[in-house]
This record gives sequence, C-alpha cells and structure tokens, in this order.
Amino acid sequence: MRVMRRAARTAVFCSLVIAMAVQASAQVPVADVIYIPTPSEVVVAMMEMAHVGQGDVVYDLGSGDGRIVIAAVKDFGAARGVGVEIDPVHVQEARANARRAGVADRVQFLRQDLFTTNLSEATVVALYLLPALNLQLRPKLFAELKPGTRIVSHAFDMGDWAPDDARTVNGRMVYLWTIPR
Ligand SMILES: C[S@@+](CC[C@H](N)C(=O)[O-])C[C@H]1O[C@@H](n2cnc3c(N)ncnc32)[C@H](O)[C@@H]1O
Repeated sequence: MRVMRRAARTAVFCSLVIAMAVQASAQVPVADVIYIPTPSEVVVAMMEMAHVGQGDVVYDLGSGDGRIVIAAVKDFGAARGVGVEIDPVHVQEARANARRAGVADRVQFLRQDLFTTNLSEATVVALYLLPALNLQLRPKLFAELKPGTRIVSHAFDMGDWAPDDARTVNGRMVYLWTIPR
C-alpha cells in the first residue's frame, strides 16, 4: 500500500513538472529565422536604394546587432531608427552598439515578435528574413504602412509583388518596393 501511495505521489509530481515545463516553453518566443548579419556594403546599398534621409523613420524587422538602423541614422541622416528583435541577447548587443556609435538617443530596439509590432510610423522597412516570412508579412505591410513607404529586402523577394528596383551587391540580391499611393 505504501509503495502504491509513493508511486501515486511520484506520478503527480512528475505531471506537475511536465506541465510547468510545457507552460514555460510556450512563453519563450521562438525566432523564425536564425541570426546572420547583412554585410556592410549590402546595408549601404539597402539605404541608398530606399533613399534614406532626413525625416525617415527606419524599421528593421529582425534587427540582430542593430547595424541597419544604426547606419540609417548615423550615415544616412534618418530622423530615427527602430529595431525589432525577438532575441534578448541581440537586443542588448544592439543597444550597446548604438551607444558606442553615439546614436542611442535616436534609435530604439524593441524586444518583440515582428509580426506583432505596429509598423504605422515607419517610412522605410528593412528585411533580411526568409522567402516564406516575407510572404507572411506582406498583408501586414499593406495594412499598416502609409502609401509611399519603402521596403528593402536583402536576399529575398515578395513572390508576385514585382520590385521597383533589384540590384546585386557582391553576389547578394537587394529588392525595393514602395507601398502604392
Ligand atoms: C538574418 S538575421 C538579420 C539581422 C539584421 N536585420 C541584419 O540584416 O543584419 C534575422 C534576425 O531576425 C530575428 N528574428 C527571427 N524571428 C523573429 C521574430 N519573429 N521577431 C523578431 N525578430 C526575429 C533573429 O533573431 C535574427 O536576429
């Protein structure tokens, strides 16, 4: 009898541990794509193709170490930059890079899932994701971005949405679209 009670208690304990582990794992945001940085010459091409300048608010969806929004503000004179990144380690790294670059007052890095971020204030959106993620994002871009907002993507296109411009930079594709007026 005592053995059975101990077995029952063990079973209850194990169930609780499993339930807590499942709940905890459900709360950990999962990245949709791994971190691979965009080379600096491709960042420059993205900013040039999008004609980034004064008055622009540049978003990078999946911002990694922050290089795109930091370059937008520091080297191309954008008013502000917003990086959206799911991985907290990259968010910390990007904030430190912004401080080092002297632009911490004009960029912010949000630890968020890019699919839940409100994009309505962006005038330029940068992407380096995956083909399927670009397609998944397309309706959100059309729903939230103002007419005239530019979208630049490193490597991946938008399916049957023809780009306004497409260039090769050191063997890497860069695409530009504009939200129609
Ligand atoms: C290929 S890297 C690009 C990094 C940076 N944009 C660049 O071009 O150098 C993609 C980034 O997206 C982040 N990421 C993946 N899924 C995400 C999601 N759902 N929401 C926000 N960030 C995400 C990854 O952690 C990674 O840092």
